[in-house]
Amino acid sequence: MDKLLTRKEFLSNLGSMFAVGSAISLFPWLTSCTEKGQKEIEGQVAKLGIIGTGSRGQFHIANLLVDKSAKIVALCDDYEPHLQEAAAMCPGAKLYSDYHKLLDDKDVDGVIICTPLNWHAVMTIDSFKAGKHVFCEKSMAYSIQECKDVIAEWQRSDRVFVVGQQRLFDPKYIKAMELIHSGAIGEVVGVRNYWYRNNDWRRECPSPELERRINWRLYNASSRGLMTELACHQLQNGSWAMDQYPECVTGMGSIRFWKDGREVFDNVAVTYEYPNGVHMTFESIISNKHFGMGEFILGSEGTIDLVKGIMFSESPAYRSGIEQFLMQIKQGILSNSAFAGSSWSQEDASTDPGVRFTDKIITTDGSSSTGATNDGSVELAHAFCHAVITGQQPDKIVKEAYYATALALMGDQASHEKSTLYFKDEDRIL
Ligand SMILES: NC(=O)c1ccc[n+]([C@@H]2O[C@H](COP(=O)([O-])OP(=O)(O)OC[C@H]3O[C@@H](n4cnc5c(N)ncnc54)[C@H](O)[C@@H]3O)[C@@H](O)[C@H]2O)c1
Repeated sequence: MDKLLTRKEFLSNLGSMFAVGSAISLFPWLTSCTEKGQKEIEGQVAKLGIIGTGSRGQFHIANLLVDKSAKIVALCDDYEPHLQEAAAMCPGAKLYSDYHKLLDDKDVDGVIICTPLNWHAVMTIDSFKAGKHVFCEKSMAYSIQECKDVIAEWQRSDRVFVVGQQRLFDPKYIKAMELIHSGAIGEVVGVRNYWYRNNDWRRECPSPELERRINWRLYNASSRGLMTELACHQLQNGSWAMDQYPECVTGMGSIRFWKDGREVFDNVAVTYEYPNGVHMTFESIISNKHFGMGEFILGSEGTIDLVKGIMFSESPAYRSGIEQFLMQIKQGILSNSAFAGSSWSQEDASTDPGVRFTDKIITTDGSSSTGATNDGSVELAHAFCHAVITGQQPDKIVKEAYYATALALMGDQASHEKSTLYFKDEDRIL
């Protein structure tokens, strides 16, 4: 797990959100991070129960311990070692091994669900039925039908619902989207996402009978693999940038390298098409990390690197043809361009160093499977506390989470079938 956050760092994180305060009218779900939002809940606490106290559950606990608007009153895990680790972090919290018992606990206002994917829908639905507010980790659910059932139950309830799409709270994504929506990179013409790692994605397993419990990510019954674990975050980018959702997806997937009994792909490549003709790609290979994690919005006049918080222009300062020619020789990239005859033209694709567009840039390399302290997760959990206390549903989060999950699930299905799947009208529910 990342190092524990201090109270000072927590406030400093929220402070960096104040810096984008001018954008609140465009991004109203950030209200909880503003001074006004802080004042609204001053002196009040959300009494929380954590269901699933493995790595992500403990990550949230560590962050919430320094958030004055949160009080962790109950913990639940049916794997005793994880329950005890969390109990050591929260002395005094009530302990449960059956989540139904935690849901019966009248002290609990809201729950944070951090269990494997196959448990998300049933636990979320049961929580709404028990009158609890819910923050469920991504992806929303294991199938589109399950997502629809979750949304229907939430809509029947008067409770708030938050899902773990923390990029909505990451200052550099917010600033990037502000720039894109203001036309800074011209028309959006492409979206490129990738997430490469070089490790087997396995957790240490104390005994063979625990394999499917500890390594739930690797098996079809509990996981939809790289699509629901990684792509789900990145697939939000295109929709957020263009305010529309893809019509279809084509995919490929294989177990190329980690042939160790796992059932989910270790290598996927999927492409989505939007109604305006834009294509969004997602690629992931977990046996080569050369490219790391990347997310780019490509525009007719520029490109935004969302992960590094840099904007590149398509028209960098003018250089004469001979200057470019000499520069390409220096860079050793001449072999990429045909320089004889008329086919050699002034193309200077990779030379604009770009400009950083936020002061406080914190980039993550995407290698952690727990989460990173500065990626918006802290602010998202705080937004949940704010919503539990005020009863105000944060805008946009459920819709973005629904579509991000639906796109991830469709991408997974398409890559199993090696086919093109179309988004059905009856699945456009929000
Ligand atoms: N938003 C993010 O960036 C992010 C990062 C990491 C993980 N996650 C998500 O968090 C969730 C959990 O991931 P993790 O890495 O913490 O997994 P994990 O295996 O470390 O923890 C899951 C915990 O749930 C417990 N559990 C399973 N079934 C249960 C049940 N029926 N009742 C009670 N407890 C049960 C397990 O014993 C385990 O302790 C996943 O959905 C994952 O996608 C999100």
